[in-house]
Amino acid sequence: MLQRVSERTPTLPTDPPALAAALEATGYLPDEGLATAAYLALAMHRPLFLEGEAGVGKTALAHAMAEVTGRPIYRLQCYEGLEASQALYDWDFGRQLLHLRAAEAAHAAGAAEELDTEKLEASLYDRRFLLARPLLQALEDSPSVLLVDEIDRADDEFEAFLLEVLSDFTISIPELGTVRATTPPLVVLTSNRTREVHDALKRRCLYHWLQHPDFDREVAILRRRLPEVTEQLAREVARATANLRRLDLLKPPGIAEAMDWATALHTLGARHLDPDLAARTLGAVLKYREDTDRVQAMAGGALLGE
Ligand SMILES: Nc1ncnc2c1ncn2[C@@H]1O[C@H](COP(=O)(O)OP(=O)(O)OP(=O)(O)O)[C@@H](O)[C@H]1O
Ligand SMILES: [Mg+2]
Repeated sequence: MLQRVSERTPTLPTDPPALAAALEATGYLPDEGLATAAYLALAMHRPLFLEGEAGVGKTALAHAMAEVTGRPIYRLQCYEGLEASQALYDWDFGRQLLHLRAAEAAHAAGAAEELDTEKLEASLYDRRFLLARPLLQALEDSPSVLLVDEIDRADDEFEAFLLEVLSDFTISIPELGTVRATTPPLVVLTSNRTREVHDALKRRCLYHWLQHPDFDREVAILRRRLPEVTEQLAREVARATANLRRLDLLKPPGIAEAMDWATALHTLGARHLDPDLAARTLGAVLKYREDTDRVQAMAGGALLGE
């Protein structure tokens, strides 16, 4: 059974529990459902589409998978207006120009007999003048992990383009030819579900909805990520965070916020959480004034209790 590997072509985990153990060795604690989905994505060469609220570990899973498989990770952060060229490649205009100037100068100095413009032009479209962006990098540097982060922020056009790339993992560069991944990258797409992603894209992927962790897992994550925080403080923070998530807040706290809260409390020298301390440090865990106001108005016991 594999635990952790550093080479490029490691023996991959042979079943979901083996993958879960390997992920845990990197500090990422998945539940059974996520370990199964991630294992299948790897074994079936299918993209993994992860949806879930903010801070539940979508992006971190991709990084942990890269560590487990020993593959490099390429991250494409999506945003409104993202265009294919920003995801694929650009020609390095500045360097092309320098190359052109150097050739002209050499010609003027008599070093080159004749300036063959056609040849010169062709030489501008050499691989060394190509700036590879994440999609191309992930295909060239195979096998790799490709993280397409927050796909819900990109436009429909970009989604359609991505669908094309994900269907055959080939990119055609008119001046250079076709780039094909020798092994398809492990693709992890994440979404906060600010909008629905199209069915066609989802159909290509294995889908998993990432939930907030249950109490025991959250305590384990806090302990694992923040070894300096005491067991008691970790349990109290996990309990209070779980209570906050039940309140239907504008922005329910994710694991990242629970970690921030525990760190803030630890920084203040707290060994455990009491109502007064909770009220003073709420800014580590809640990021909307409306949410803070609501929670401040609650009796402290209601936040901290079972
Ligand atoms: N299962 C887990 N085990 C260990 N650490 C975790 C786990 N889930 C989340 N974390 C930690 O919680 C933090 C937030 O996770 P991450 O950034 O991956 O969330 P996200 O779902 O991508 O959030 P967003 O939607 O805001 O981008 C990270 O520091 C990550 O390491
Ligand atoms: Mg993320």
